[in-house]
Amino acid sequence: MQNGKKLFVKTYGCQMNVYDTERMTESLQAEGYTSTDSAEEADMILLNTCHIREKAAEKVYSELGRFKHLKSENPNLKIGVVGCVAQAEGEEIIRRQPLVDLVVGPQSYHKLPLLERQINNGQKKVEIDFPTEDKFDFLAKRTDIRRAPAAFLTIQEGCDKFCAFCVVPYTRGAEASRPVEKVVSEVHSLVDRGVKEITLLGQNVNAYHGTYSSNSQFTLAQLIWKLEKISGLERIRYTTSHPNDMTDDLIDAHANCQKLMPYLHLPVQSGSNKILKKMNRSHTAEAYVDLISRVRKARPDILISGDFIVGFPEETDHDFADTMELIRKVKYGQSYSFKYSCRPGTPAAERMQVPEGKKNIRLQELQKLLSEQQKTVQEDMVGRTVSVLFEKTGRQIGQVVGKSDYLHAVHVPGEENKVGLLENVLIIGSNTNSLEGKIV
Ligand code: SAH
Ligand code: SF4
Ligand code: F3S
Repeated sequence: MQNGKKLFVKTYGCQMNVYDTERMTESLQAEGYTSTDSAEEADMILLNTCHIREKAAEKVYSELGRFKHLKSENPNLKIGVVGCVAQAEGEEIIRRQPLVDLVVGPQSYHKLPLLERQINNGQKKVEIDFPTEDKFDFLAKRTDIRRAPAAFLTIQEGCDKFCAFCVVPYTRGAEASRPVEKVVSEVHSLVDRGVKEITLLGQNVNAYHGTYSSNSQFTLAQLIWKLEKISGLERIRYTTSHPNDMTDDLIDAHANCQKLMPYLHLPVQSGSNKILKKMNRSHTAEAYVDLISRVRKARPDILISGDFIVGFPEETDHDFADTMELIRKVKYGQSYSFKYSCRPGTPAAERMQVPEGKKNIRLQELQKLLSEQQKTVQEDMVGRTVSVLFEKTGRQIGQVVGKSDYLHAVHVPGEENKVGLLENVLIIGSNTNSLEGKIV
């Protein structure tokens, strides 16, 4: 146990990385580390990385370059690369940037305390196996530390879908669900530490099939119903879902489960059946639109969010027009859109690429439509009363910031003592990415 050491972690990528960062931090805290927000005063720097698009991975190397002077000022400083770039590149990271001491893939985080001791003895370590044990069982938890009111919880990892553009099946491995009892006990412990809202995470969270009482399995909907009964837990969310796993029991939960929030992130990627097929998405545009209308029938006010890729190999203007058409039909309240980024080793990397200029034009056009839709959905909130879970104080003095049921950021002035509380808020204004409200 080394006392007084400081840990700095920088997190890139998806919410699963945010969750992993929390768990790694707690596990190193149990080894005597305290967290710091400043890389300058750290004894250990971890970059928790994302490999999803080319730019995400390149950022890691440029960030590492910036740490060079820190290592010359503090020879005891250890630098680790963890997460999906670590998994994908392994030893190559140390070859390309020798100041790195440690490379750990997402399935090996439970080995961190041991690895920490080894690198402090002057070794360099690369750990990118997919071990069979459950890493979450071995990662220490600091149950004595109070938590913010909203927390992430990974319940499912990896992916077996192999979309032709995507690295996740290679960086996170095969799909695996955590057992129901472990999820339930973690939720209890989070609630005891002040958490009121849980977002269940997985790359394909609605494919969840965790074991229950050793001889049966729960679907995501069954798990949500079980969590609904936990007193003190007020809100349940889940992300990210795949259209093919959007089962009837989950749609029904949106109609009947009180704590399940009216928000669904359901990526479609493209509105062209030709492109969907080439992406290996195994659903059509029509099936997706029909699915959304069934979800809306169950929960008419649900806010729909999506992911889109423009410029996938062989995407024509006509295919792109189909995507625009799908967006007009669905009407999204929130969205994430990207230019296709070529990922070596994935099937689409070998195909005829769309010129960068075309990708730029399409992305601009798509984002213009999506932000108009977002604006309309937000403006429709004005005059409505929504429940808001206040998470922190805002930038302005006295301001408090939280999330509505629909996941909109809501600012309220003059109520800073409300952090951690759920309140009914009347929405009085809409800004680009947030709403203004007052407590009623
Ligand atoms: N598991 C989720 C999300 C995976 S990654 C799902 O199946 O939807 C998050 C998003 O990144 C994807 O939905 C996709 O829109 C985008 N993405 C993934 N690979 C990409 C690539 N090679 N280029 C551009 N965007 C990509
Ligand atoms: Fe990637 Fe497709 Fe799996 Fe999502 S479903 S993680 S996009 S391979
Ligand atoms: Fe990125 Fe890995 Fe998440 S590639 S999106 S950090 S699963």
